[in-house]
This record gives sequence, structure tokens and C-alpha cells, in this order.
Amino acid sequence: MPTFAEIKKILSDCQQSHLLRFWDELNEKEQSQFLEQLGTINFKEASDIFTKAQNSLSEDVQKLDSRMKPIPPEQFESEKSVNEKILGEYKSTGLEAIANNEVAVLLLAGGQGTRLGVNYPKGMFSVGLPSGKPLFQIQAERIRRVMSLAKQQTGKTGKICWYIMTSGPTNFTTKDFLRKNDYFGLNKDDVKLFQQGLLPCYDFDGKIFLDEKHIVALAPDGNGGIYRSLHQNGILEDMKKRGIKYVHVHSVDNILIKVADPVFIGYCVKKEADCGAKVVSKAEPTEAVGVVCQVDGKFQVVEYSEITEATANLRDSDGNLLFNAGNICNHFFTTDFLNKVAANFERELKLHVAKKKIPHVNENGEKIKPSSPNGIKVEKFVFDVFQFAKKFVTWEVPRNSEFSALKNADSVGKDCSLTSRRDLFNLHKSYIEKAGGKVTCDGVEISPLLSYAGESLEVRVKDKVFDTTTVILSDEEILKNGNVICDGDCR
Ligand code: UD1
Repeated sequence: MPTFAEIKKILSDCQQSHLLRFWDELNEKEQSQFLEQLGTINFKEASDIFTKAQNSLSEDVQKLDSRMKPIPPEQFESEKSVNEKILGEYKSTGLEAIANNEVAVLLLAGGQGTRLGVNYPKGMFSVGLPSGKPLFQIQAERIRRVMSLAKQQTGKTGKICWYIMTSGPTNFTTKDFLRKNDYFGLNKDDVKLFQQGLLPCYDFDGKIFLDEKHIVALAPDGNGGIYRSLHQNGILEDMKKRGIKYVHVHSVDNILIKVADPVFIGYCVKKEADCGAKVVSKAEPTEAVGVVCQVDGKFQVVEYSEITEATANLRDSDGNLLFNAGNICNHFFTTDFLNKVAANFERELKLHVAKKKIPHVNENGEKIKPSSPNGIKVEKFVFDVFQFAKKFVTWEVPRNSEFSALKNADSVGKDCSLTSRRDLFNLHKSYIEKAGGKVTCDGVEISPLLSYAGESLEVRVKDKVFDTTTVILSDEEILKNGNVICDGDCR
């Protein structure tokens, strides 16, 4: 821990001496806690970050239209236009990699779920499925299922390590929740939590806010914080020890997420890509999602606000939107690439700056909750590394089978638990009907432990009619709990 004199000097050099304004009022414990926190902050870097952030705020929001180009055809493939044989090859390559212990999943779970309006990590949220399973459980069970598919194909028992990036606000609760639920059947040693970094919150002049008289106001550094924290927390080293070559990175809030998707992984591996993005075609030209494209020849995600409506509406000769590759926070990286980014490019990542209402302690020692923006928060984004890839590829998947995001409370009526449930039920209904069953009600759920993507269902559903809310369970679940949830009238 640094001494008071050392910290005082650093703060003075960086024009942040106001942070020690209440030092003499603090008790011994608070002083020691404060010194410890101050010692973890790189104030020189914090000054540089503010300067960079200020520059980006003062730049006019430039429309990027004239500099944009769609993804070249050789770096784009769509599931719907690939034949069964090639799809099978991709899947088989992905399962082989899983069986060889070469695949890890990295879950981005550092967000605070502000829009959803819950005060606990989003992964603990249950959208109200008949099983009551929260997002973490659904994802853990999909990992277990895809490991067993890899075993069925290869005869080898491969492991997938589940890395979960949390943040200061979500770390303890997530850890506790997973532990209490016995890691939802995954091996404890293969579930590794690590925390992303924090960045100071600034006023518009670059002065860092105090959250309390002895606590600096810090906020998570965005989902692009993974690159630094993977290195700082020894996760890249852990991946190396385990022989992991490929990492599937995704957000916590997509109920349809195909975790460790063997098809996506196989596609990227076959294309010898070091970085890949799964995308869906945009629902409409004005849909508020970023699009994956090239700007000045470099791959990046361009926000809807960065292009004109005319460009958003441009169509190719087949009538499809020219900029159609909607980003769904679903990425593939080789571990070589992650190491390269951590070592060489992390500091070059673009800073995304947002004006925010930042609660703080003012110069009179009063706690203020502002009603209008009073400062800035700075974040890095996970997709800003596409430009550093040697080979970047995109894989387009159907929205109805792969993407339904949970962002909002039900009152918003969009991207909420209601739509998450609806989209999962519709997908599972289509799986059941493909396997020869019939669904005549809303609310039939298939356990991820039974089926990952519609496989292995015939024996349970063929020639049956599902007409009440039901969960179709795996053998393991039936053995453990009896067929209790499956209360549907299966005829
Ligand atoms: C994200 C994508 C956006 C995409 C959308 C699809 C980014 C930067 N943006 O937007 O292009 O169209 O998903 O749903 O990826 N997270 C952290 N730490 C943080 C902040 C967020 O781990 O500091 C995690 C969240 O827990 C979540 C994921 O990153 O799992 C995405 O974050 P979120 O804030 O939901 O991003 P969106 O703005 O919805």
C-alpha cells in the first residue's frame, strides 16, 4: 500500500488533489481503506484517458457513410445459404475442438442491468419459464449438453472452461449464486470468475468525483475491459495451461444463445480466422443495432446514429439491406489473438464516452444526486478489436433460432422477459414439430440438458400433442426430481 505522502504527490502531479479534501475528517480505518483504493488507480493513465475522451466528445458526430463498405463476400457466410454437408463439417470441426479441450466460453457478465431494473446480476434473472431456470442455469446446461454431443461424436470427454467476467458491482453476488447452485452441474474447477477493471468518473473538467469522502467514484470499464482483465487476472495464462485455442465470447442476456456453438466455432476454425462475429440480419433499416462493416478498410461496428437514414436504407442487387449485419455481441477469438490484443493493442482501443448523472460528494461534503448529466463515464467495447485481426469473418444466423435479447422491463414491451419467453417457446415448438410432435399451447420448454438445438427429441415427442405448459426434461432431471415439472397432458 502506498504512503499518504506518495499518494499526495501523485495526486498533485495529476491535478487531482481535491480527492484528499476530507482526509482529516476520516477515521483510521477509512484512511487506510482510501489509501488502498487510491493505490490501485493509475492516475497518470486516468489523465490521459480524460484527454482522449474529451477529444472524442468535442469531435462532431461525423456521419461515416462515405467511408463505409459492407463485409466482402469471402469474409461472410450465412447459415441459410450453406448446404447441409458444409454445415455438418463445421459442426463436426467444432465438436472435435470441444472434445480436444480446445474451446472455452467467456461470458460477459459485468453489466449492471440498469435498463432491466433489477439490483442483482442479469444472469440470475429468470424470465418466467415454466422451469423457472435463470439465464446462468440455461447457459451452464447448454455447455453440459454440447460437451455430451462432443463426446457422442468423438468418444472423448472434452471439457469446456466457463470463464465469467464480472465487475465490482456483480462479482460477489454472481460468485455466491453459482456456488450455492453447485455451478449448475459443471465442475467447480472449470468455472472461473474474474473481474473487469474500473475507470474513474470525471466531471466535465476532468476532476475525478468522490463517491464518499473516502471512496473514489469508479465505474466498470465496459465489456471491452476483457482484454486487459484477461491478462491482469492470469486468465490468458490459465487458458494456455489448459491448452485452450478458441474462445466463444457472448453477452449474458440472450435467452437463445448457443453457448460454445460448434457450428460457429467450426466455421471460424475452417476459415482459419483469428476473430469472428456472429450476426443477424437487421429486422428493419432503422433497427437500433450496430452493423458490422468496414470503415476505411477496417472492420468495425457502426452504430445506427453514425449513419444517415439513406445509407441505412441502401439495398444490394438482391434487394437486401447493404448494411445488414446486425451485431449481437457474440464473438469468436483464438487465444493467440487475445494474447496479441492484450500485449499490443489494448491501449489503442477506442474510448466510448457518455455524459451521465454521477452521484458524488461535493466540496461541502454533501452527497449529491444530480438530475441532469454532470460528468462523463468512459467505456471500451468488446468489438473494437476486429480491426486488429489477421483474418476476420462473419457468420449470419437466423434471428428466430439464435437471438432474443433481454434488455428492458416488461412495461417497455420490447427485448423484455415477455419477448424472451415468447421467442424461446416459438423455437422449442418448431423443434418439437420437426421431431414429429404437436404443440397447441404457448409455453412448452425443452430442457437444455435434453437438447441443444432440436436434436434427440423424437423419442420424447413423436406423435404426442402438448397442450399445456410443460417442460420436457432430460433423463438426468427425471431421475433426480421425478417428472414433476412435466405436467402437460401428453397424449
Ligand atoms: C450490445 C452490443 C451491441 C449489440 C447488442 C445486442 C457492445 C458494446 N454492444 O449492446 O452492439 O447490438 O449488445 O444485444 O457489445 N458488460 C460487461 N461489462 C460492462 C458492460 C457490459 O460485462 O462494463 C456486458 C453485459 O453484462 C452484457 C454485454 O456486456 O452481457 C452487453 O452489454 P450491454 O450493456 O447489454 O450492451 P448493449 O448496449 O445492449
